[in-house]
Amino acid sequence: MKSKQFPKHFKWGVTISSYQNEGAYNTHGKGPSIWDTFTNRRTFKKGNGNTATDFYSNYKEDIAHVKALNLDCFRFSLSWSRIFPDGEGKINPEGVQFYHHVIDHALEHNLEPWITLYHWDLPQALQNKGGWVNREILNWFESYVEFCTKEYGHKVNTWIILNEPMSFIGLGYYMGIHAPGKKGISNFLPASHHAALCQSLGGRIVRKNVENAVIGTTFSCSYVRPFNRRVMHKHAAVRIDALLNRFFIEPALGMGYPLDAFAGLNFMSKYMKPGDEDMLPFDFDFIGVQYYFKVVAKFSLLPPILFATEVPADKRNVKLNAMNLEIYPKGLYKMLEKFNAYPGVKAIYITESGVCFEDELIDGKINDKQRISYFKKTFKYTFKAIENNMPIKGYFIWTLVDNFEWAEGTKPRFGIIHTNFNTQKRTIKKSGLWIKRFLSKRNTK
Ligand code: NOJ
Repeated sequence: MKSKQFPKHFKWGVTISSYQNEGAYNTHGKGPSIWDTFTNRRTFKKGNGNTATDFYSNYKEDIAHVKALNLDCFRFSLSWSRIFPDGEGKINPEGVQFYHHVIDHALEHNLEPWITLYHWDLPQALQNKGGWVNREILNWFESYVEFCTKEYGHKVNTWIILNEPMSFIGLGYYMGIHAPGKKGISNFLPASHHAALCQSLGGRIVRKNVENAVIGTTFSCSYVRPFNRRVMHKHAAVRIDALLNRFFIEPALGMGYPLDAFAGLNFMSKYMKPGDEDMLPFDFDFIGVQYYFKVVAKFSLLPPILFATEVPADKRNVKLNAMNLEIYPKGLYKMLEKFNAYPGVKAIYITESGVCFEDELIDGKINDKQRISYFKKTFKYTFKAIENNMPIKGYFIWTLVDNFEWAEGTKPRFGIIHTNFNTQKRTIKKSGLWIKRFLSKRNTK
């Protein structure tokens, strides 16, 4: 597989996020986010993102790397509480300037800046009022998006509204393992509904404020297979698939929530107001697919998911990443096929894909052969999808430099550049060098 086989305008990029990279968590006027609170509790044992990769100070070096690796696009997120320390009202001019610097720097390097409006770091001040569970979030989000689009819209064309709503709602408002650590269906349902509404609301605001905007939103996905051919396991797979792969894209496309798979979702009606159904869809220019691993589903009577559970990958004798999830590159193709089959999906970007290991620096080098193999395979499947007429327009690597991996801390390393978290020294991994070489032979004519 060669990069010159890809269409001329195919975009190659890299994605990072504010909390996982910026650091400077309580300086330069920034207010706390739910992740600052969550990781600085005594009971949280996986470190914190207080410094992270110190992108706040290192953005010039990091952006220069993006260019040097021959990538075209730089996707990053805005930290809501760096701009609005209290979530609403008072603005932090230094925070606002910081993103101007990042955008300008990317543009100076001839890179396309892509903004993600929300990558999980809700201002703590808003969580104190209920966060995503409080319907007021529609107003808070509206003011935030109005501000950002008016501030940066003349410089940035491509806007992503939410990053993986099922991850931040499912893990943060149902399982309690991500910030803000809330659990249960009475948190999950309203938080989901409000996130789904904000997803389309955000799209409408960007459309109104940014001329020629290209607007997307991203979905996490996993290739789900039943444990075996027994009907009970097949049903379990249908349920897990509805949660992991259908829950947020279907309302965005005007299909409503996947009630067919989950009778329990009927309780959602409790949180729906008249007119909500019409507000859920938005005509996105593209959807972002974010793929990492395969899931095997099995019938179960145990919580947290009714009649279904995942069979842990480390019990299945398969290839594992450093988070004990199954590495399965072909699943990317399956997911592209699945999302492309929805009427109304106009274009697809792989807005994140990657793999984590506990990469070690040996003699100043990181020989991450397995990551190269992952990218070779997923690039091949991306190309196959294009050959089969799917509108796949770009591939964004997760991620540039090893960063703070949420509830897992800094052990799983996803970067194509190694971070020494003590010194902040960056070392390009073998995979980074491979990407650079791969992209140097592109079809630019
Ligand atoms: C998707 C999320 O968007 C990103 O923040 C996370 O680090 C990666 N998955 C890897 O788990």
